[in-house]
Amino acid sequence: MPRFTRAIYPGSFDPPTNGHLDMISRGIRIFDELIVAVLQNPDKNPLFSLEERMEMLREIAAPMGNVRVEAFDGLLAEYAARREAAVILRGIRAISDYEYELQMALMNRKLFPQVETVFMTAAESYSYISSRLVKEVYLLGGSIRELVPEVVQRRLKAKLRL
Ligand code: PNS
Repeated sequence: MPRFTRAIYPGSFDPPTNGHLDMISRGIRIFDELIVAVLQNPDKNPLFSLEERMEMLREIAAPMGNVRVEAFDGLLAEYAARREAAVILRGIRAISDYEYELQMALMNRKLFPQVETVFMTAAESYSYISSRLVKEVYLLGGSIRELVPEVVQRRLKAKLRL
């Protein structure tokens, strides 16, 4: 019987960046279905609401096909198991990401051993981009044109009206 592999690509996506977009497009080439799972994180005090982050991701991912965008809260591994996903997909930009990601992957495996974490690297041209830096650069008047998709540029402009 052919195997169907569903993967979850989780994150805060506050806002989505070109690095995230690159990961999504690589992910859908490997997995049969990719769920972009947006953390409902009021305690992190995100700039964009959950709905805004999901709307941006839907607009970005819509042309790609086998991607869906969902919200989650609570334990990621529990959510992945409930959605019957075999894989949690995470991007690693630099070695500095690795320690935290390894710790999360091992904890998630301890909680739900049936869900495997798969690490992928984004294109090297995106390796320095993070949502936090994008917001900082934009707030300080720098160009973010090559850092985020167009919809995110528009939304940042509308939200912060600089
Ligand atoms: O890309 P991000 O924004 O750093 O994503 C972090 C995320 C959402 C993957 C992480 O915060 C998470 O998994 N949160 C859910 C709560 C949880 O499961 N915590 C235990 C992690 S081992």
